[in-house]
Amino acid sequence: MKSIQTIAEMREALESKRAEGAKVGLVPTMGFLHEGHLSLIRQSQQECDVTVVSIFVNPTQFNDPSDYENYPVDLEKDLNALEKEGVQFAFLPHAKEMYPANRLKVQMTIPELTGNLCGLHRPGHFDGVLLVVSKFFNIVQPHRAYFGLKDYQQFLVIRTMARALDFSVEVVGCETVREPDGLAMSSRNARLSEKAREHAALIPRALNLVQKTLQDRKAQYSVKCAELCEIAWDVIESGTQNRVEYMEIVDPDTLQKLDEIQKDRTARIATAVFCDGVRLIDNRPLQF
Ligand code: PAJ
Repeated sequence: MKSIQTIAEMREALESKRAEGAKVGLVPTMGFLHEGHLSLIRQSQQECDVTVVSIFVNPTQFNDPSDYENYPVDLEKDLNALEKEGVQFAFLPHAKEMYPANRLKVQMTIPELTGNLCGLHRPGHFDGVLLVVSKFFNIVQPHRAYFGLKDYQQFLVIRTMARALDFSVEVVGCETVREPDGLAMSSRNARLSEKAREHAALIPRALNLVQKTLQDRKAQYSVKCAELCEIAWDVIESGTQNRVEYMEIVDPDTLQKLDEIQKDRTARIATAVFCDGVRLIDNRPLQF
């Protein structure tokens, strides 16, 4: 595996690969890799000839400075994991390489997709994600780029940006990888105390309960979303330190909030929860 820190070197290394006709896959990450990241990498390895994994804790997407400062880092372990997966290129730019001090600030935004869920609660977050991902698309020029559906709003926002800006990349969404008790894998899980980790497992349990409730209501024509969200909210918070930031059922394409779920319509339930101060997100599709 080759570790690369500069944009120029990254471009040069890939130019010859592309000239040979190699299909390039990109997996952007912020490091502290877990099985969720590795599943994206494995899919890229299966579908592409060359896989580039970027590790960059992107300062422009953190609206909370303490979240940025406390973001877990273990580069040595990450590089070992990438070697083991047979990854060809690790792209590890410094913040100064990505954002030189003398440049004017560019802002990217998709207001229609970022007015609710994480977009509402983390102002500016997706602007920062879009900026860094479009820079990676431009530097790496991948044929395919892999993103987790755990960050469902992020996936939609990035796919929309790639289409709007005519990047010739296929944005691929990959299923959420979970711990045995259902908790979605996340680099932030490492910051949970033992008790908070136990209570975090209530998040997937609550989302699954909403799907089960829908199944139990099959005789009805529609079910009110507020009622379903309240059930999930209570399961997560009661008897714990958990604090639900949002719990919403949305249209899976537009992310607009739904008032009710109707028969044969698809929807997605999404939540953000502070578990003892650590912010975790999760979502799942709903079928009625
Ligand atoms: P990060 O949180 O490191 O996640 C990198 C990629 O891994 C994202 O596409 C994310 O959705 C995916 N991922 C995380 N947990 C997952 C899980 N349990 N199952 C499947 N995929 C999972 O998301 C980011 O970094 C950044 O915002 C980034 C896109 C790199 C831009 O800075």
